[in-house]
Amino acid sequence: MEHFLENGKGSLSEKVVLLDFGGQYSMLIARRVREAGVYCEVLPYNTPWEVIQGHNPAGIILSGSPASVYQEDAPKCDPAVYEGGVPVLGICYGMHLLNIDLGGEVKKGSRSEFGRTSFTIEQPEPLFRGISINDEAVCYGWMSHQDEVLNPPPDFEVLAWTENGTVAATGNRQKNIYGLQFHPEVVHSPCGEDVLKNFLYKVCQCSHSWTPRSFIDDAVARIRRVVGENERVVCALSGGVDSSVVAFLLDKALGSRAVFIFVDHGLLRLDEAKEVARLFKEGLQGQFIHIDAREKFLKRLEGVTDPEEKRRIIGNEFINVFKEKALSMGDIAYLAQGTIYPDVIESGSAYGSAVIKSHHNVGGLPEELGFELIEPLRELFKDEVRLVGKELNLPDAILKRQPFPGPGLAVRIIGAISAGKLDLLQKADAIFRNEVEKAGYKDELWQFFAVLTDVQVVGVKGDGRHYGPVIALRAVVSEDAMTADWARLPHELLEKISARITGEIPDVARVVYDITSKPPGTIEWE
Ligand code: XMP
Repeated sequence: MEHFLENGKGSLSEKVVLLDFGGQYSMLIARRVREAGVYCEVLPYNTPWEVIQGHNPAGIILSGSPASVYQEDAPKCDPAVYEGGVPVLGICYGMHLLNIDLGGEVKKGSRSEFGRTSFTIEQPEPLFRGISINDEAVCYGWMSHQDEVLNPPPDFEVLAWTENGTVAATGNRQKNIYGLQFHPEVVHSPCGEDVLKNFLYKVCQCSHSWTPRSFIDDAVARIRRVVGENERVVCALSGGVDSSVVAFLLDKALGSRAVFIFVDHGLLRLDEAKEVARLFKEGLQGQFIHIDAREKFLKRLEGVTDPEEKRRIIGNEFINVFKEKALSMGDIAYLAQGTIYPDVIESGSAYGSAVIKSHHNVGGLPEELGFELIEPLRELFKDEVRLVGKELNLPDAILKRQPFPGPGLAVRIIGAISAGKLDLLQKADAIFRNEVEKAGYKDELWQFFAVLTDVQVVGVKGDGRHYGPVIALRAVVSEDAMTADWARLPHELLEKISARITGEIPDVARVVYDITSKPPGTIEWE
């Protein structure tokens, strides 16, 4: 099958390849290059030259690494990288490697330079051109390596020195090969953005080709080219940002030849299913199919208390419902899904990491469904998906939707699920969200939601004792869901939410606030 992404025309024909040696900032470098307006593709450090060449790169960046060039098993790139006439920029380890490979000398630093260090520019052209510096031509860079260049290769010059007299930047201007001791990608290197841009625009002669608009034009053209004139494509909608952006791209490319299936499993938040249906029905030209599978899911989940079992049942049922509908639609050749770059990237083959990530959307629909897969977002980072969505005029309700687990409220009802419990949780959750949004805290929080515990407690309501469930409120701040801190919401706000929940939902006996961070807790309760 022709890979959807490869050899595309348009914006993707101009790219910079980043060879990943396992440095902690490799992904950040790729993002910075893209933010600067050039598409960057991450490949394993040991990718053969023929493969790299096949990408027709405008430039090659060698990333940092936890390794030292002196290690016995130091990761190396194909030496042909230096001979292909393509500009090369080595960052930190990448700089040390190219120095050694091209006949220079690297030594363990006597004063290991970590953190912010100033450096003096010796040769501003072309990497440091136009960089605003003070009178002494001093810039700051952020270092995180002990090794340093002792002698650059014979035909290289020193472009900048650190305050400690070590080489901060070196290069060969004829061959367009450069090395930086500091990390231009981190915010602590104030001139880093300009240095990267100089590499991209002055050295590699790139044009500013990577923008949400150019991506959309390109993706639409590629969808048309892959799908051809007559075939149809089916796409599952979840209401999440990725599948929504895929849907609007498909719609743009294929119009009525796109079929959208929204499986309402009844586990979304209050009115969310209605909202998703309204938005897509109004916004898409293609065929929109809304399957009300609420009863079916409830039935399958009856009496199930184990969270993993809930997940398994929901995942399987979703595939069954989707498959039945999709296959009944006649001959549809393609299935589109919202796989994004972090799901695809072979970071596992970078030095130092053992696991090779699967090339398939985690939790995505299996290929046995018999469709060819189309994954129009395979090259995008999450924030780029949002930018593309914005360019496609998707509403904030989708673009800024907080992460929501696939199994939905099923994992926020502790123990067995029932229609009554779902109804109660949706109401409590809606009150919590409404008050947090009104108070202006929404954008500061990673996720905030209510959980229906299986604890029954006593309370006083009206004139008598009342036994009812406990609602727990969970609000966290986080960068990436790997770690999270519980949000310090004001007591007055929590008081108001508690009063509304106990007042407006008669059954609820008590409201508690979760003050556990991750770790040791997790974000969800199940
Ligand atoms: P935890 O609870 O592990 O959650 O701290 C981390 C992030 O993952 C989300 N999450 C899920 N997403 N299916 C999903 O699609 C799931 O089964 C699932 N469980 C947790 C959670 O909301 C948080 O953003």
